[in-house]
Amino acid sequence: MSDASKIFVDINIDGIDHFVGTMWYSIRKNRGFSSFQYSEEWQANPEAFSIDPAISPLHSKEVFRSGNKALFGCFEDAAPDRWGRMLIRRTFNDAAKASGKHPRSLTDIDFLLMVDDLSRMGAFRFRIDKEYLAVPTANSIPPMIRLRELLQASEKVEERPEARNLLLAPGSSLGGARPKACLLSPDRTLNIAKFESSKDEYDVVLWEAVVLHLASECGLNVPYFQIENISVSKTDRKTVLLEKRFDRAGASRIPYISTMTLLNASDNNSEDYSYLHISEKLSEISSQPTKDLRELWMRIVLGILISNTDNHLRNHGLIRTSAGWRLSPLFDINPNPENRIFSLSIDLEGNNDIKTALEVAEYFEVPKTKAKEIIKSISIALQNWKHTARKYGCTTSEISRMEPAFEHTELDIALSFTSSIHHYP
Ligand SMILES: Nc1ncnc2c1ncn2[C@@H]1O[C@H](COP(=O)(O)OP(=O)(O)OP(=O)(O)O)[C@@H](O)[C@H]1O
Ligand SMILES: [Mg+2]
Repeated sequence: MSDASKIFVDINIDGIDHFVGTMWYSIRKNRGFSSFQYSEEWQANPEAFSIDPAISPLHSKEVFRSGNKALFGCFEDAAPDRWGRMLIRRTFNDAAKASGKHPRSLTDIDFLLMVDDLSRMGAFRFRIDKEYLAVPTANSIPPMIRLRELLQASEKVEERPEARNLLLAPGSSLGGARPKACLLSPDRTLNIAKFESSKDEYDVVLWEAVVLHLASECGLNVPYFQIENISVSKTDRKTVLLEKRFDRAGASRIPYISTMTLLNASDNNSEDYSYLHISEKLSEISSQPTKDLRELWMRIVLGILISNTDNHLRNHGLIRTSAGWRLSPLFDINPNPENRIFSLSIDLEGNNDIKTALEVAEYFEVPKTKAKEIIKSISIALQNWKHTARKYGCTTSEISRMEPAFEHTELDIALSFTSSIHHYP
């Protein structure tokens, strides 16, 4: 691409940086364009893999991003979303104003390259020359002990520049719209902290923990998580959900792509996709397709029964293990008591019910009889939802408010299945 900026892309695997290829990026008529070419080094590497299903490693030439997106999906997955962009944009504008300049508008590539190198999602690292971009000067990712400070800063980002400065590096590295930040455990592992939002009408974060707990009781693959109850004033306490980052193993990074990238979809056409599309691609790409398909199918059943409606294509992902791609642990699940309008449906007819889940089970390599047993055992585990919610400290009024998310005809249908198994191992 002539007239384009050139960015070298490395990927860190098992602590070693590999030069994967070159990205070219340009802006014409306010629109970003990019292309990518694998390096000869990566193509010659016996361990090499495709960093994005849209860019096959067999391509020896420059590949252009098609459609109306500026960046390839694998890079979008490493870039911030609404919350991180807000932090970066405002901090950038503050700095420009402080030096008497008019801030220029930031593009997708700016946001990608400004994300703190240490906590950036997945395993990519970017450089223009030899030096990596956005490498922290010191202590960019705070230790757990500063959790309260970060939580308080997250509540003041709108009005306080110093709160934005504090959150910039640890807070802008992950996608999603809700307030969050990364923190280091005493053993130096990376964690994500999810905070309450000022717009929340109930304790959204606490309910995320409740359903993660229920999901793990149903036998699903859930990242290690815990709840912290932080006192922010004499009368006020806030919930924080801490999760271990599944794209890190100690100091090593683990490549990650969302299912948006897996399907080469975009926000504009995501209604053209369903869980069946994910299952098809997953069976091609996963190194353990039988296990991953079953896990995905169980997530569908769980999602129906807890009304996890915000199940869009960026809320599922894959990680790259030494054996190949695997479905990532479950994340961003939330019960919705308001409606049962799912972002992603089982099929393109928009079905999201137990009957359809059972009908499609075989596409996920789950035989019908096994499927019935699993549905039954998940529904039995979920029957305890009030007990789990109370254990997590949800109030009686919040529990009643949440009832429509858990108590509906789909639960009755699931419970009506006969099965000799009472709990799925
Ligand atoms: N435990 C984890 N380990 C590694 N990455 C994670 C983890 N949890 C979430 N992520 C990454 O961070 C992103 C944002 O997290 P999450 O989806 O939970 O946030 P959110 O703000 O609630 O999102 P949304 O806007 O979809 O509601 C995810 O898309 C995923 O890429
Ligand atoms: Mg999300």
